[in-house]
Amino acid sequence: MNLTNRIANVISNAVENEWTTEQVELLLEKPKQTELGDIAFPCFTLAKKLRKAPQQIALELSTKLEDQLIASVQVAGGYVNIFLNQAFITNQVLHSIMTDLQKYGSKNSMHEKIVIDFSSPNIAKPFSMGHLRSTVIGNSLANIAEKNGYEAIRINHLGDWGTQFGKLIVAYKLWGNKEKILAAPIEELLKIYVHFHNLAEKDDSLNDQARAAFKSLEEGDEEALTLWNWFKEASLKEFQIIYELLGVHFDSYAGEAFYNDKMTRVVDDLKKKGLLIESNGAFVVELEDMPPSLITKKDGATLYATRDLAAAIYRHQTFHACKTFYVVGNEQTLHFKQLFSVLEKMGFEWSKNLVHVPFGMMLKDGKKMSTRKGKVILLADVITDAIKTAQHNIEEKNPTLENKEEVAKQVGVGAVIFNDLKNDRMNDIEFSLEQMLNFEGETGPYVQYTNARICSLLQKGSFEAEAFTFSSIGVEAWPIIQLLEDFPRVVEKAFDNADPSQIAKFSLLLARQFNKYYARTKILADDGTTSSKLAFAFSVSVVLKESLRLLGVPAPVKM
Ligand code: ARG
Repeated sequence: MNLTNRIANVISNAVENEWTTEQVELLLEKPKQTELGDIAFPCFTLAKKLRKAPQQIALELSTKLEDQLIASVQVAGGYVNIFLNQAFITNQVLHSIMTDLQKYGSKNSMHEKIVIDFSSPNIAKPFSMGHLRSTVIGNSLANIAEKNGYEAIRINHLGDWGTQFGKLIVAYKLWGNKEKILAAPIEELLKIYVHFHNLAEKDDSLNDQARAAFKSLEEGDEEALTLWNWFKEASLKEFQIIYELLGVHFDSYAGEAFYNDKMTRVVDDLKKKGLLIESNGAFVVELEDMPPSLITKKDGATLYATRDLAAAIYRHQTFHACKTFYVVGNEQTLHFKQLFSVLEKMGFEWSKNLVHVPFGMMLKDGKKMSTRKGKVILLADVITDAIKTAQHNIEEKNPTLENKEEVAKQVGVGAVIFNDLKNDRMNDIEFSLEQMLNFEGETGPYVQYTNARICSLLQKGSFEAEAFTFSSIGVEAWPIIQLLEDFPRVVEKAFDNADPSQIAKFSLLLARQFNKYYARTKILADDGTTSSKLAFAFSVSVVLKESLRLLGVPAPVKM
């Protein structure tokens, strides 16, 4: 329960439950000036209900508000202005943080699972900006789910099946060079793939060959399978470099191909349930208010959607998760609507627990950052650039720093991740190295730097948690205490809205408020207040670090 909630509860009891806690909470206001208290309760609606004057209600109520949380109350017109007991609350919050440490704000295990389908790049194609967004958002959502007491199952639904592999096999047989592919798998495979496309535009027989090649792959032809496997392994190796840089791991890499032997069952089930309708030799499921979902093509081949159906059913049977998040760009909104709708038609009640978590595009100079025909913006390069820039900044500002390389990596990667997560995920975001690495802007490095500053303070002095006194840290600390108190609720809301940006925004606010405090307060003073101030700073750092961890951003001790 957060503070407003707890105060609402006190008021609800005082009005003899004329109003429930929830009703009171909706009425509570934050006074514009701090001189008017921390929380105000307007008595007008209650007055109407009880047919009394608002001021009288306020007066009566003011005598009944007795609680440890409340220091004093004042009546102003029809308002009861409440001054919180800052010392009591501060002690309570800091005590919780110093006892629970990184567990502060964590919920107990609910023994329920959440599946998170994220990243999911396509084999033999470059890892796109969209996949980066999915990776970063999905990873943070998994961390946030765990913090909320769920077991997160991280699944990389690799795009490792489909007609494009027929094309790739044909292209490889015609122009492939094994050594080149081994040296730079994705770049080289993309090159021959694009070449195939260019030629196939003029020569349709290439497409026929590709279809035949995919068919033989689907039928388990050994040569085709060996090639496919090789493409897959080589691509995965490259993706792994990115995952390692980002510090992301998966519980499963079961991609589209994993469901090959589970397709007939799905198609049969659809048939049995009378949902499969023939349309020019292909089979579809008709849906209300949206285009039909294509299940099998004329030649019997299955599609992306069919494999997603099989995957959803398989996962349900395997994990019994209470929720599944599909972290995929908003251009696939229709696909997921159709998928969920088909599952519902099949009578699967659990389909209501499947959630598409969409997101906007990554822009550079206002334009979509894409991997256009043959032009590869290799994602690893983008991240490496961020690291290089961070390295350069360190050389300039702090050349004697230990572990410079490691720190540069943490700062560069942190900048990229934070830049992505600080915005509402539906917004398109701008990719600007300069901006995202700015130590003073709304950036990952800014939050990291604030935490590192606290870490270095903590190295210069020591504190005793038990000896903490509120009066030593000063009234300027109060806004920060309120933020710390709110953290558990922020964690909860970020999960309920599947929105890591709430954590990112919170961390920026906390960092900003602490820096303001730090600018005005001498923390290492010789007047007996240092221990309490350090205990306070330590608590801030615990919550900052935990916020960064939830986002997937590292927290260097020095930078
Ligand atoms: N590989 C797909 C793509 O790049 C994303 C897969 C998302 N997950 C899913 N279950 N469909 O577009």
